[in-house]
Amino acid sequence: MIVAQNWKPDGWKAFEAKHLPEYLDAGELAQAEETLASYPPLVFAGEARALKADLAEVSSGNAFLLQGGDCAESFAEFHPNNIRDTFRVLLQMAVVMTFASKKPVVKVGRMAGQFAKPRSSATETKGDMTLPSYFGDNINGIDFDPEQRRNDPGRMVKAYSQAAATLNLLRAFAGGGYANLRQVHQWTLDFMGRTPWADKFAETADRIGEALDFMEACGIDPATVPQLQGTSFYTSHEGLLLPYEEALTRQDSLTGDWYATSAHMLWIGDRTRFEGSAHVEFARGIQNPLGMKCGPSLTPDALLKMLDTLNPAREPGRITLISRYGHDKVEEGLPALVRAAKREGHPVVWSCDPMHGNVIKSESGYKTRPFDRILSEVKGFFAVHRAEGTHPGGIHIEMTGQDVTECVGGAVAITDERLGDRYHTHCDPRLNAAQSLELAFLLAEMLNDEINVKQADAA
Ligand code: PEP
Ligand code: CO
Repeated sequence: MIVAQNWKPDGWKAFEAKHLPEYLDAGELAQAEETLASYPPLVFAGEARALKADLAEVSSGNAFLLQGGDCAESFAEFHPNNIRDTFRVLLQMAVVMTFASKKPVVKVGRMAGQFAKPRSSATETKGDMTLPSYFGDNINGIDFDPEQRRNDPGRMVKAYSQAAATLNLLRAFAGGGYANLRQVHQWTLDFMGRTPWADKFAETADRIGEALDFMEACGIDPATVPQLQGTSFYTSHEGLLLPYEEALTRQDSLTGDWYATSAHMLWIGDRTRFEGSAHVEFARGIQNPLGMKCGPSLTPDALLKMLDTLNPAREPGRITLISRYGHDKVEEGLPALVRAAKREGHPVVWSCDPMHGNVIKSESGYKTRPFDRILSEVKGFFAVHRAEGTHPGGIHIEMTGQDVTECVGGAVAITDERLGDRYHTHCDPRLNAAQSLELAFLLAEMLNDEINVKQADAA
């Protein structure tokens, strides 16, 4: 049993909580919390431990982490096809990256619980009306009207149901035959025809196909081998809405340890990772794998304090540090953090979020992220780890399987003028299916280079 000193599930209440909604009706809140506390956990502690073990492999350089999904899930976009399409693209990305790196890819969705959003401003003004900002569908509604924008605790219960149904479908896809490797590869081929990168991509896809043919000739048929037939798929979200997280925190009957059972992994956002934060206090006592966003405002000393608080036992797989600097800041800012963690012997996973430091307002007025800046941050991230001798362990992206027009650029070039065509996100702009897959192929090249450099160093 791992016991965090002086910790209890509601202990966070004595700490400074930023970005938490104020609920005006305490009775209504208590009722929603009670309802959630009586509901079954969404994940089992043993699954969270399995993810931690997988992430420990990433931290030691033997695997890669792919984490992605919506910026904000919504009640409006809740549809089986959306879940299927995002899952499918993540699987395609993982296949491409596994093939290049010859290492397992740990797949974690920003799915089945990624609702709550920190906002830079607590209110929004349109004309002469000022209302609370939109904080995510588990808190209030996106429409600009007073009733919608009211913080409603009942939304947490609805979010739980949606998360449960989403997770149920993801589990079915992951284990029920949909994730069969031959099929995933076929989907990737279908996509090839639609991008100018087709030739280059087709080359990799052909080689994957040949490998599958070869295995089949040897009697290893993806349809019958469990490892090729199904896959592990985990869920994660920002552990922001603490009343929701607390209500779903349970003591594992096998070990006696506390786990957040709303997802396998929770992360602490860039705006809530400070000393004395309620979010950090909550996170330190749950035994799930934890992510922590690391942006330009984080000093190496503050990082080390956080690591000592969240992972005093230096358990591998416990902490994933998700850097989100911006394409022009990563090479300057990240090395100091990487060196500090390495010097102090913290076995962290380093993952790159190339989304949140690269938001711009386009000329047409949309919030967007240029694909080339996203790519440039990923390249900077790889360059830093190459120079420091550490493992560029993962990628954290906001994406969807839908054909949206939210990020500009990519091979199927989305232009500023086209952003309005299918701009559906409830919060930040996401990569669409084609852009996500393109990123996976470009990542595959970088992973390949990493292997070549290592082999050259070893020779
Ligand atoms: C997010 O991941 O959606 C987010 C708000 O990121 P960050 O905490 O890095 O700003
Ligand atoms: Co976001």
